[in-house]
Amino acid sequence: MLERGRAIIIDGTRKTMKDVLIAPSILSADFTNLGDEIRGVDEAGADVIHIDVMDGHFVPNITIGPLVVKAVRKITVKPLDVHLMIMDADRYIDAFAAAGADWITVHVEACTHLQRTVSRIREHGLKAGVVLNPATPLSTLDYILADIDLVMLMSVNPGFGGQSFLPVTLTKIRALRSIIAQHSPEVLIEVDGGVAPETIGPIAEAGAHVFVAGSAIYGCDEYAPVISELREKAMKAKRIVE
Ligand code: DX5
Ligand code: ZN
Repeated sequence: MLERGRAIIIDGTRKTMKDVLIAPSILSADFTNLGDEIRGVDEAGADVIHIDVMDGHFVPNITIGPLVVKAVRKITVKPLDVHLMIMDADRYIDAFAAAGADWITVHVEACTHLQRTVSRIREHGLKAGVVLNPATPLSTLDYILADIDLVMLMSVNPGFGGQSFLPVTLTKIRALRSIIAQHSPEVLIEVDGGVAPETIGPIAEAGAHVFVAGSAIYGCDEYAPVISELREKAMKAKRIVE
């Protein structure tokens, strides 16, 4: 029942809640060589490509927009997980959908009319997710869980790669897992920030399904070994609890 609800298709393969989805964040890639950097993680076993969009208002950094998403779309068939760290996301949903996003996640702190925003994402046939900053309570999900496909918990304050994982997130993942099991078992839990071989075990054990990792992957000379290590450690940890 839970497995069927959480199943998603990636590369023609059915993934379930027992799968671990590794999502390299291109924020830490070498942007002078972005095509090869994306092909590199794709061939190394990435399940999802995570793309961080920052506007210099919601977060103190500016990154990329729909043009880059459109370019990335041309070189990979893996799902593009577009993380919008922007104010007024409603104005840009259509553009990111047209650019080829598969998942679009928006911050609850930045969306005044959150239900409208996630509905618009789903109207494009995409997976809709909401993101919570580290200090944002899970109660902000109370009236939106039925309208979304995934919840992403920030385990760092958003805006930059390479920050340390905030351990309090583990408590939050466990609490979210329990809420989701009771009310919306099909919703995936994604964790973003400070995910690395040293931290992924407890994150997986707490109940996450999708693991975003930027510096831990792109900081390595070779991507396949670290992606395999992340997956193995998460799978091992999940076997303890599932
Ligand atoms: C931070 C971004 C993250 C970032 C993670 O605001 O949302 O996706 O790339 O980077 P690491 O894995 O280095 O913490
Ligand atoms: Zn992100």
